[in-house]
Amino acid sequence: TWSMAAFAEETIAEIRERVGEKRVILGLSGGVDSSVAALLIHHAIGRQLTCIFVDNGLLRKDEAKKLKAVFAEKLQLNIRFVNAAGRFLKALAGVADPEKKRKIIGKIFMDVFEAEAKKIKGADFLAQGTLYPDVIESQSAFGGPTSIIKSHHNVGGLPAKMKLSLIEPLRFLFKDEVRLLGKTLGLDDDMVHRQPFPGPGLAIRIIGKVDRRQLTLLREVDAILLEEIRKAGYYRKLWQSFAVLLPLKSVGIMGDKRTYENIAAIRAVTSVDAMTADWARLPHDLMGRISNRIINEVKGVNRVVYDISSKPPSTIEWE
Ligand code: XMP
Repeated sequence: TWSMAAFAEETIAEIRERVGEKRVILGLSGGVDSSVAALLIHHAIGRQLTCIFVDNGLLRKDEAKKLKAVFAEKLQLNIRFVNAAGRFLKALAGVADPEKKRKIIGKIFMDVFEAEAKKIKGADFLAQGTLYPDVIESQSAFGGPTSIIKSHHNVGGLPAKMKLSLIEPLRFLFKDEVRLLGKTLGLDDDMVHRQPFPGPGLAIRIIGKVDRRQLTLLREVDAILLEEIRKAGYYRKLWQSFAVLLPLKSVGIMGDKRTYENIAAIRAVTSVDAMTADWARLPHDLMGRISNRIINEVKGVNRVVYDISSKPPSTIEWE
């Protein structure tokens, strides 16, 4: 009988056989797919796998730190951390157009990744956490909305350019199966059940121009939101929950002083595959707590609004 444990065992044996004494590189983002792929390959070939983690400066609060603790320290994966925040932020300076922001981020990611990959001598393989829906999507002429990302984040140009062969151990699995596989391989529940996070990161959740100050602000807002969502037991019920920083200011009152500060929008959606999504009917008292905490604790935000748009015709992300 087919089980995830048997699938894992078979796949591990196949990878071992195919790779032999060679080396494999993999772009680790900390998302479910790349994490499970990394762990599976690590089980097969241990330190012959080198993961590359690119910190683009657009991540959520403590993200890089958490990833280090889990994958490098606890699971003992071989990871190269590249801090490229400066490069990304410099290139993004003054750019307000969403598509331009995405293109810049995608291009720098490729450059940084390729430069790092070249330093790994004897690497013959590039591994990716491609899922079955990604495979289908890339075969159809008209890809779904998430196919936009693939042009940024998949390192598809690299294998040919660097003469690498692809290893895609998850290419026959759906998301829920990947989560189950992660669990089978002993991945922390926290990692297994992560909500998706877009490659361009917080840059597409700061509407318009992106700078360090706004990134810090959004990180604080987002951390509070996620903490309250988790505490209320909603994290796993939602496809995604996040905050968006608007390039708008509004008037408020704090104590006896007039304030004129930013607006944060909260987006929480349910979905099965991100092709369609509905705005989540969060309890009003939870929304109230989220709003109170953000306004009281984050200096620079004096108003919180809730996004009640479904996809389609809106998208999940605002940019
Ligand atoms: P939209 O906003 O198109 O998003 O409804 C659908 C899903 O895709 C995610 N998303 C991205 N993921 N790189 C990614 O890795 C991207 O450029 C990107 N853009 C959107 C989004 O978070 C949602 O889950």
